[in-house]
Amino acid sequence: MADAPELADLLACPRCDAALAPAQDEGFECRGCQVHYPLLDGLPFLFSAPRASLGEWQARVHHELRRLEARAEKIESELLDKELLPLTRERLEQVRDACRDQHAKLAALMAPLLAGGEPATRETYIALRTRLPSDQGLNTYYQNVHRDWAWATGENAAAADIVLSMLPEAPGRVLVLGAGSGRLAYDLHQCTKADLTVALDFNPLLAGIGARVSRGEAIELWEFPIAPRSAEDCAVLREFDAEPARPGLEFVLGDALRAPFRKAAFDMVITPWLVDIVPLDFAELATRVNGLLAKGGSWMNFGSLAFDTPEESRCYTLEECVALVGQTGFDDVEYRTDRIPYMCSPASRHGRMEEVVSFRARKDKTVKTASRYQSLPEWLVTGKEAVPALPSFQMQAASNRIYAFVMGLIDGQRSIADMARLLEAQKLMAQQEAEGVIRDFMIRMYEDSRRSS
Ligand SMILES: C[S@@+](CC[C@H](N)C(=O)[O-])C[C@H]1O[C@@H](n2cnc3c(N)ncnc32)[C@H](O)[C@@H]1O
Repeated sequence: MADAPELADLLACPRCDAALAPAQDEGFECRGCQVHYPLLDGLPFLFSAPRASLGEWQARVHHELRRLEARAEKIESELLDKELLPLTRERLEQVRDACRDQHAKLAALMAPLLAGGEPATRETYIALRTRLPSDQGLNTYYQNVHRDWAWATGENAAAADIVLSMLPEAPGRVLVLGAGSGRLAYDLHQCTKADLTVALDFNPLLAGIGARVSRGEAIELWEFPIAPRSAEDCAVLREFDAEPARPGLEFVLGDALRAPFRKAAFDMVITPWLVDIVPLDFAELATRVNGLLAKGGSWMNFGSLAFDTPEESRCYTLEECVALVGQTGFDDVEYRTDRIPYMCSPASRHGRMEEVVSFRARKDKTVKTASRYQSLPEWLVTGKEAVPALPSFQMQAASNRIYAFVMGLIDGQRSIADMARLLEAQKLMAQQEAEGVIRDFMIRMYEDSRRSS
């Protein structure tokens, strides 16, 4: 019988795609690029600029810890109001205490990351064009952790049943890209005879929880539901736990768009809830998945197709996705759609039904992969080329000039009508139009100031 594949044999440098070697002390290294890829809390940390990514995630953790502190302080100041209903007081005290406890728990959980050494300079990280998307915070998918490991709502089982219905009993070497805290990867690994299941995500909070829980470790964190059902549901202490996974389930930290694996390393690549949230054209992502698969291997997608890119031509329908899959080296495309509950916390009135699309396609030939993914254009990286006068930049410049002028007029005396008259006098805008524009601008500023205070 062939030996079970080892994760280390599948890893490749995310900069040059060469095989990685174990490093002398710990982690991996690319001898060609002379880069050391560390382990973070035992997980391979395979970002192309590891020290820069470390700094980015450290900053996100600090930001979240500060946010929890600030929320507890704000509640403390609201508690000074003697007129509060007793019920309100009780709720505020409960949430304040939960924020403080969450702060301690999160700081302990993320201690290996915070102690992970000095981050790289900003220049290194820009030069490598590997910046994380700014909309991806530590908590962007925090609710998913509770869904994965704490709620007994059947959502995980519904997802696993659909995916399992399209997988072979023995799917070989499986890669789950954008695995989050890994429940689907865990369920698939447990329910099939996969030789190896690798769960990759770039968020160390999510992957770290997945790795620990699937080793049998219990973790406690607070859930703060957005529409609590009752007073006790405003902050709920959840315990994440599971039976330890059978051998062969591995968690890796890295960027799915520069997946740190050797070419053709996997027999099955699964993309759950990923294709429509990454800043990469679906067809290009398809060629990257193709490159990761051995010939005859399969791509299995699961989740929404809710593309939201500025280019309308890239907001594909299911039919367009199927056509693009057929053009990127795959055949035998099969798909199904299902309506399932999505993110329905038992402690929240918020939640929805979602129609999910699942498709599976077989790789029949290798296609050329686009060049390495770069998140920033050349002129931003080198700083030496002309900044393009994009139409959207010009529009922003024009409106910012007007806003700057209006802000300079705020002196505690002038009304919106006074300011509109001045804008007209400066020939910037007709008075009537100016009143509406200034009011909208002031509403935004007013709302921002209320949020930030
Ligand atoms: C919508 S969530 C889905 C999570 C999980 N697959 C599930 O079904 O709950 C998207 C996941 O992809 C991860 N992700 C987004 N972009 C990524 C990238 N470029 N590389 C790695 N992970 C990424 C996020 O951190 C998040 O865990």
